Amino acid sequence: MTESTTKNESGIPSVMRAAQQTNFGDVRDVLTIVDNVPIPRQLSSKQILIRAHAASINPADWKIMSGMLSIFIRYSWPHIPGSDVAGEIVDMGPEVKRFRVGDHVYGNVGIGAGAFAEYVRADESLFALKPKNLTMEEAAAVPVACDTSYQALFHKVSPPIGKGSKIFICGGSSACGLFAIQLAKAVGASVATTCSQRNFQLMEKLGVSFFINSNDFSV
Ligand SMILES: NC(=O)c1ccc[n+]([C@@H]2O[C@H](COP(=O)([O-])OP(=O)(O)OC[C@H]3O[C@@H](n4cnc5c(N)ncnc54)[C@H](OP(=O)(O)O)[C@@H]3O)[C@@H](O)[C@H]2O)c1
Repeated sequence: MTESTTKNESGIPSVMRAAQQTNFGDVRDVLTIVDNVPIPRQLSSKQILIRAHAASINPADWKIMSGMLSIFIRYSWPHIPGSDVAGEIVDMGPEVKRFRVGDHVYGNVGIGAGAFAEYVRADESLFALKPKNLTMEEAAAVPVACDTSYQALFHKVSPPIGKGSKIFICGGSSACGLFAIQLAKAVGASVATTCSQRNFQLMEKLGVSFFINSNDFSV
């Protein structure tokens, strides 16, 4: 991303480049890149301002943009879409405790809530320090899909999944499946899954105990 304007004394420009959606519909019709969007400089006590290095496009982003979920999701236009982002903290509210300016972080700002911009404002609780072994691009690809898998595995699940659990994850080679396998393995569960033959090696590498070729049966 390139910053589009002159910086003030804080080093943060007053305007930025951002994707802006003007309605629900085909992305080519409703999405434009705008150069002079005001940067959200007013931060509440627990908010952070992130200079974005990378954002990822989740299926939910284009589904929301197309209007598929417009019964539940309403925006005032123009709206900055995007959920997952990774970048550097450039400013923060006075009560932010978990981070410092300069930290590299990644998170989900909320589904379609403004990640496709050079600067992104969000509550600190939505972000985590970026592991050093992940690039910004890799980190930006994690939050929504990994959150989804985490919730499916661990949120109000009884009995809890842990050491000795045997679980089946449908679609192990999908984005959510790959995170689910790694999360389940991390707590000591053994995993069986489905995928295409082309992904068998990947499943082995992830330590899946048993996998079924999803093309071998029909529903
Ligand atoms: N991604 C998210 O953040 C997210 C969030 C919430 C809910 N979900 C839901 O979770 C499910 C999985 O989504 P995902 O985004 O994780 O999937 P994805 O990354 O798009 O994975 C698709 C995988 O499914 C397999 N597949 C089987 N038949 C296919 C076909 N006809 N076309 C394309 N792929 C096919 C392929 O694996 P093989 O080649 O190994 O068969 C492919 O790698 C969906 O129901 C989605 O709505 C996803």
